[in-house]
Amino acid sequence: MRILSGIQPSGTIHIGNYFGMIKKMIESQNEGELFAFLASYHALTSVKDKEALENNTYEAAINFLALGMDPEKSTFWVQHDVKEVLELYWILSNHTSMGLLERAHSYKDKTARGIVAGHGLFSYPVLMAADILLFDSNIVPVGKDQIQHVEMTRDIATSFNHAYGKEIFILPEAKVDEVVATVPGTDGAKMSKSYNNTIDMFTSPKQRKKQVMGIVTDSKELDEPKEWENCNIYTLCKLFMNEDELKDLQKRYATPGEGYGHFKMTLLDKINEYFAPYEEKREYYLNNKKEVREILAFGASKAKKIASAKMEQIRDIIGLI
Ligand code: TYM
Repeated sequence: MRILSGIQPSGTIHIGNYFGMIKKMIESQNEGELFAFLASYHALTSVKDKEALENNTYEAAINFLALGMDPEKSTFWVQHDVKEVLELYWILSNHTSMGLLERAHSYKDKTARGIVAGHGLFSYPVLMAADILLFDSNIVPVGKDQIQHVEMTRDIATSFNHAYGKEIFILPEAKVDEVVATVPGTDGAKMSKSYNNTIDMFTSPKQRKKQVMGIVTDSKELDEPKEWENCNIYTLCKLFMNEDELKDLQKRYATPGEGYGHFKMTLLDKINEYFAPYEEKREYYLNNKKEVREILAFGASKAKKIASAKMEQIRDIIGLI
C-alpha cells in the first residue's frame, strides 16, 4: 500500500498541519510505503520571495526530520527535484474541465477573502492530482480542507483512464482523522497560514506566547463561571490533554477566580512540553543544512525512478513519440 502526502513550504508550519497531517504521516511509516514531499511549486502560488521560499523549505524539511521522518525507510523529497510532475500536470490539464476547478472550495475561499487569484492558484488541484497519480498512490492522509482536492484527483484520473480505455491511474482515497480534521486557529476559524491565526509548531517562546495569548474568547470577567463547550482555548487543549486533564480543566471553567489568561497559560505549558523532545534533533539539522539538502536529493533520486517509469508509460499510451 502506498501512502503519499505533501505540505506547502509557504510559511511556518502550525499545529493544524501537525495534527491534521504530519503526525499521521510519521506514524504511517510503519503501515505502508510512505511518500512525503514538500510542495515547493504549489508554494509559488503565494510565496514570491526567494529567501522566504528557501527558508520555509528548509524549515519544513527540518521539522519533518526532527519529528521522525526516516529518509531511508520512506521517500522524502522536495517537489521541484522531480520535474516529471510538471509534465503530468500539463497532460492532466487536458482532462480537467474548467467547471471542476471553479467548484474548488479552497480556491473560492481564498478569492472570497480578497486574495487575487492567478492561473497557478486556479489550476493548483491539477498539479496536486499529478503529485498523487504519478506515484500510484493508494492513500492520501490530509486535513479536511484537502478532501475535495483528492476527490478532484479521482475525477481527473477517471476521465483520463476513460479517454484511453486503460486503468492507467489508481483512484486514491483521502484519509482523514475526524477528530483533527479541522484544527481551529486562534480566532476559531480553520487554522491557516493564509489567515494569520496560527499557533506554530516550533517557534521562539516569545512568539508562541504571543500566539496563545491572542486566542479569541468571550469577555467574561474573572469572577464569572465560563463555558468550555465552545471555547477556542478548550478546543485546542483537547489536542494536548488526556481525559482526566480535560475533566480538571472543565471544573476550572466553572470556578470563579479562574480566567481565560490562566487557561491560556495551561495550554502554553502543554504545547511547550509536547514539542520539547524534538528540539534537540531540530537544532542539529538547523546547524547542518547541507545534510538536509542531501537527504532531500537522496529522496528525489528514489522518487524519480518511479516517476520517470510512469511517465514513459503515459507518453507511450497517449502518443507522445
Ligand atoms: P497545506 O500545506 O495547506 O497543509 C498541509 C496539510 O495540513 C492540513 N491542514 C490542517 N489539518 C487540520 N486542521 C487545520 N487547520 C489544517 N490546516 C492545514 C492540510 O489538510 C494538509 O493535509 N494542497 C496541499 C499540499 C499538497 C498535497 C499534494 C497534499 C500538494 N500536493 C498531494 C496531498 C497530496 C496543501 O496545500 O496543504
